[in-house]
Amino acid sequence: MPLVKVAELSEVPPGKMKEIDLGAQAIVLCNNNGNICAIDGTCPHAGGPIASGALHGDVAVCPWHSWGFNIKTGISDFSPSISIAVFKVEVHGNEIFVEV
Ligand code: FES
Repeated sequence: MPLVKVAELSEVPPGKMKEIDLGAQAIVLCNNNGNICAIDGTCPHAGGPIASGALHGDVAVCPWHSWGFNIKTGISDFSPSISIAVFKVEVHGNEIFVEV
């Protein structure tokens, strides 16, 4: 699958998330102390916009009902049987690429 440039590193400061609209897919870039991850942007519970929630370390918390998702594995802290997609990320200089 191709790597696509989705953002500049400066657009996702440490401790923040940013939603990227890729047309058919919304993804969320997460910056945990300089480690950039990319996860599915739509919560599997009821469709909440994960990027509008909060990032606590490695956990992205959905703003609607507070389910948390590990940004490295995608696994929910509500139930390990529930997970979201995690995408491969590469950072080159100030540019963030995601495999989609
Ligand atoms: S929609 Fe995300 S926790 Fe309910």
